[in-house]
Amino acid sequence: MSKEIEDFSVMKDGLEYKYYTMGEWKVSTSGNTIPIYNPYNDKLVGEVQACTPEEVDQIISNAKDNIECWETTPIKERADILQKAAKLINRWADYLGKLLMQENGKPLNSAISEIKRTALIFNATAESRDSLIGKTIMGDILEGYSREKMSITYRVPLGVILCIGPFNYPFNLTGSKIAPALVAGNTVVMKPPTEGSITASHFGVILEKAGVPPGVFNTITGRGSEIGDYLVSHSDINMISFTGSSQTGKRIAEKAEMKPLLFELGGKDAAIVLDDAILENTVDAIISGAFSYNGQRCTAVKRVLPMPGIADRLVKRVAEEAKKLTIGDPAQNKDIGPIISSKQCDYIQELINDAIDKGAEVKCGNKRKGNIIWPTVLDKVTEDMRIAWEEQFGPVIPFIRIKSAQEAIEISNKSKYGLQGMIFTENLDLAFNIAQELEVGTVQINGKSSRGPDHFPFLGTKSSGMGTQGISYAIKNMSRPKVVVMNLSEQGKLVHECVWKE
Ligand code: NAP
Ligand code: G3P
Repeated sequence: MSKEIEDFSVMKDGLEYKYYTMGEWKVSTSGNTIPIYNPYNDKLVGEVQACTPEEVDQIISNAKDNIECWETTPIKERADILQKAAKLINRWADYLGKLLMQENGKPLNSAISEIKRTALIFNATAESRDSLIGKTIMGDILEGYSREKMSITYRVPLGVILCIGPFNYPFNLTGSKIAPALVAGNTVVMKPPTEGSITASHFGVILEKAGVPPGVFNTITGRGSEIGDYLVSHSDINMISFTGSSQTGKRIAEKAEMKPLLFELGGKDAAIVLDDAILENTVDAIISGAFSYNGQRCTAVKRVLPMPGIADRLVKRVAEEAKKLTIGDPAQNKDIGPIISSKQCDYIQELINDAIDKGAEVKCGNKRKGNIIWPTVLDKVTEDMRIAWEEQFGPVIPFIRIKSAQEAIEISNKSKYGLQGMIFTENLDLAFNIAQELEVGTVQINGKSSRGPDHFPFLGTKSSGMGTQGISYAIKNMSRPKVVVMNLSEQGKLVHECVWKE
């Protein structure tokens, strides 16, 4: 038995994975498990527990019971534990990456990078613990108050944080919630995406070995459609940090009542390409932005808006490069692999067909075999086509030709999403002016849209999110100020007279 399998053997029986609470790995009393199949070859990767509402109650109660002890564990100790976890994540990156590749069809090297990126987040979160420093304010800043009134503000945890991640980055986008939640002194209940739950469940072993006490970190597995509503409306959950589709985000917001919410949702990031853009840099950014992990990234380039002076050359070059992408097995690091489900493939195909029916030109792709869709470039897409607005989440890039920067701004802003925008040009003054007009969280100038580096603020407007992520921002969002006001009495005042020096 290899060392990794020995370390992880506690969390499973054969291919049946358990859920983790109070430092123990458990089988659900439901007797039901959910099979997880490799989207590339349909082989069974493993099965996860379908937790019941009673188990949800118990797990949340375990997390609640352990808030006080974890909150009073020194911040430095909590940070040290995260750093130990980072070391373990790095040590096990190859094993976890392979598992992730099998679960969600991500090319092996990218899957390993996702694991290592999470270790980086754990380390950086530990180092960002001074985001928890408070401040002291004297009353006499405001007219009518004296310095005998003084507020001492420090940051305290919110309580039990529910962390829900998406299938496309199941390890990284649960890890980026768990680390700030823990360093801020919260206890955590993680509900991983079903496709991705095996890899994410390994946080149980990692965090326990790093020194997280029982009950502080817990997992719940089960379909969101079955236990999601129960979980998010649970009265002992104090905050929800969620990444996933805008549709699920809206549902959670309805069910969660007054709980604080931190949401990273869908996107329709548009790349505005002006006539003077450097062609090859722009082509590289579009190819990598639109097609890496088959376009299944919130921050994928999902529309290109080129000006007339560059449109023909750009479409031609992007189609040429798209045709060179390798197709097939994620284990062999092919550029394009399987989409997460055949249902999602059907949806992507529906968008392609709708565009073709309405007059879009196919420059390459539009071919499907099983769950693989060939990289597809659609030119002359118009505003009446669904793909101009809907999030394709697949390897298809629509070109909507524009006649002016103003038109590009209008089309960008008409979207219900507002994650990121891109401008490709050598005219930085104009780029900056356009950037100010775009109704998005972030504008990239001469680069593809991207969440990372993970210490940058990351946010979406409109249907793309709520609140701000990014390491120090997440720590702030997962804690709150606690204010103690000192009202000093005249009695203890030192009597001394200040005399102005002449
Ligand atoms: P999803 O279908 O919305 O699922 C996301 C998570 O929510 C999964 O863990 C899912 O569990 C759970 N869930 C489903 N229904 C729920 C409910 N009623 N209550 C609570 N949880 C529920 O999204 P996805 O398909 O995994 O991910 C793709 C989407 O995420 C895309 O729209 C993408 O743009 C977005 N995304 C955004 C960001 C960002 O940072 N802005 C990053 C990555 C992805 P199950 O798996 O069990 O259904
Ligand atoms: O889908 C979201 C995401 O977290 C990808 O990260 O940095 O490659 O945009 P990044």
